[in-house]
Formats: sequence, structure tokens, C-alpha cells
Amino acid sequence: MTNIFLDTLSGTRKQTPPVWLMRQAGRYLPEYRQVRASEPDFISFCLNPEKAVEVTLQPIDKFNFDAAIIFSDILLVPWAMNRNVRFIPGQGPVLNPLNSVDDLNENDTDQIKNRLAPVAEALTLCRSRLSNDKALIGFSGAPWTIITYMLEGQSSRDFPTARKWMWDNDRQFDMLLDIVTTATIEFLILQAQAGADVLMLFDSWASAVPAHFRQRVVFKPVQRIIETLRGRGIVQPVIGFPKGIGEGLLAYCDQTPVDGVGLDHGVDIAWAAKNLPDHITLQGNLDPLSLIAGGPLMHRAIDHILEAVADRSHIFNLGHGITPETPEPHVHDLMAQIQGRAS
Ligand code: CP3
Repeated sequence: MTNIFLDTLSGTRKQTPPVWLMRQAGRYLPEYRQVRASEPDFISFCLNPEKAVEVTLQPIDKFNFDAAIIFSDILLVPWAMNRNVRFIPGQGPVLNPLNSVDDLNENDTDQIKNRLAPVAEALTLCRSRLSNDKALIGFSGAPWTIITYMLEGQSSRDFPTARKWMWDNDRQFDMLLDIVTTATIEFLILQAQAGADVLMLFDSWASAVPAHFRQRVVFKPVQRIIETLRGRGIVQPVIGFPKGIGEGLLAYCDQTPVDGVGLDHGVDIAWAAKNLPDHITLQGNLDPLSLIAGGPLMHRAIDHILEAVADRSHIFNLGHGITPETPEPHVHDLMAQIQGRAS
């Protein structure tokens, strides 16, 4: 059976591109909210394989997306490293902020395999329930984005603590980057071995890294992650998503061995189609808020993307996660528009 998602990621251009949406399993779906309400603690929800698989498959059943992304969270890595991660309603994630790299235990990265075993179990179960023409995506935060949460102890706008650590010369930042990179590698290997067909690295706050440090903080860790995966026999393709780095995408594509790259809605899609290397599959770019508006403006924005990438391999997606306010009919409209095109 062909899998148009995996074919596209290996470089084949499809007349009708594969589609999935970041955060497709989430609060805009009433059936998600119902399962979510049965498990008040968000981490316990993520670590319940039956429930995680149920919500992972909800958007596939409803919209027939070409890929499922396992229901989990990037903050499970710091949780497994004993950073006391909790989700406070109305406030978002809270962690015990790291004061020094010595706050981490040497064997914290060894805990990934044991403490995150339920994610592996969910992937195996999900793969067995998902039809073979759909891809299953496993994911992790990229090290920088995880570090911002570990140092700030919460979501942040400007990440002052993390950026101060970066400019400090006492090597603590590089040690932390190294430890979190190792943990990320272990988490991705666990997911690949459990049944993920594709791996995605979310660097949601890459935009906050000074361009001066991009190589050290954004590119090098991703390069090490993928090279280590390959060395350890993991063959699954990897999609990188360095959100908000603009022209830095050129160096990202050049210096990291990613198979696909996620584009946020700030990137000019025509520029990306023309300037990013041909062997890299492009993914994303539609502003998630266009789905709230729906109608002709959304349709025009979708057409604009489809036309710009017409002669490249491309996975249709948003520039960031779908928002809870999104009306379901607009998601059906989006699918009808993309899949209604001749294949
Ligand atoms: O459908 C999917 O995309 C798969 C699941 C997924 C979740 N989080 C579930 C989730 C994925 C891929 C993520 C990644 C994630 N988590 C990122 C990177 C992507 C991005 O959006 O930039 C980040 C930064 C996080 C950290 C995180 N998790 C935040 C900031 C929040 C919001 C907290 C809040 O209260 O709104 C979460 C919680 C979270 N993760 C939700 C979901 C569906 C919403 C919480 C809920 O249902 O109560």
C-alpha cells in the first residue's frame, strides 16, 4: 500500500500533497475535550497509552489526515529528568527552574527509556490501529526549546535566563545543551523503535536565539541528534521545525541532515520554494488563524501556498499549532480544497 506522506518526505512530488495539522489532536475537538476531562492531570493523560491513542486517532477518523502525530508533549523530557513539570490551568506549564547544571543528576538521561516507556507503548498500539497508508509521527522538542522551559521554569516571551546562560562563558550552557541533546536522542530512539514512521523536532523558540549563536545552539545539536540516530540504526526520516529563524533556514537546511523542514507563517513561501535545497521536503506555512476566519481569504491563502510549491515535494500543514477556537467546518473546507484538486 502506498503511503503518500512517506513518499513525499523521501522527495516524490504529489499532485495532491499529504496533509496534517500541528496540534491536530486538541481542544478544538469536542471528543478530545471529553477524553481530556477524564484525566485532570495533563502528564498522566500523556502517559496513559489507551487515552493517548484514542485522541491521536480522533482527527484521522474525522478529517482523514495523512499522518497521525502521537499525543504526547515536548515537556515529557524535562518531566522524565525530574524537573517537576506540571500544567496549571489558565497558566500553562510550570517547572522547577534549574539554577545550575549540578541540579541535574548524572543518570537523569538514563531515565528517559523507563519513565517515557508509556509513550513507546502508545506508539506501538497506535501503529497497530492505524491504516498502512497513514504515517505515524513521533516527536521531541529540540534541545534549545526544552532548555528555555528548564531555565525559565515556565513559558516566556523573551527567555532572559536562558539567553543569559548562553552569553555566560563558564560552559554551563554547553554542558546543559549536551545533556538535553543526549536525552532527546534517547527519546527519539525509543519512539522510532516503538513504531514511529517519522520523527519531528520542534524548535518552537528558535527565533529567540541570537543569530550569532544559531550554529552552536540550533544547528549543531540537531546535526548531532540525526547523526547519532543514523549511527544507531534509526532510518526514519526527520522533519526539523526551527520556528521563526527566517533566512537562518538556509543554514539550517545546509548544516543539519533533515529530510523535511517546517515553515512558520512568517516565511515567504515563494522565497522558500526558490531558495531551500530541492532534496528537502517543505512542510507548513499556513497561518493557523486563517482557519478561524475560513471562507475566501483562507482559500486564497491555501492556493497561494499550493501554487508556490507546485514543483516541489511538499506536506501541507500550518505555520504553528491549530488553535482551540478553530471551527471544525473550516478544517473540512481546507481538506476539501486540497484533496479536491486532481490527483
Ligand atoms: O496533535 C499534536 O500536535 C500532538 C500533540 C502535541 C501536544 N504538544 C499536545 C498538547 C504536540 C506536538 C505538542 C508539542 C509542544 N508542547 C510544543 C511544540 C509545538 C508548539 O506548539 O510550538 C510546545 C512548546 C509544548 C509545550 C506545551 N504543552 C504548552 C506551551 C502547552 C499549553 C499549555 C496550556 O495550558 O495551554 C502544552 C499543553 C498541550 N500539549 C496541549 C496539547 C493538546 C493543551 C493542553 C490541554 O489539552 O489541556
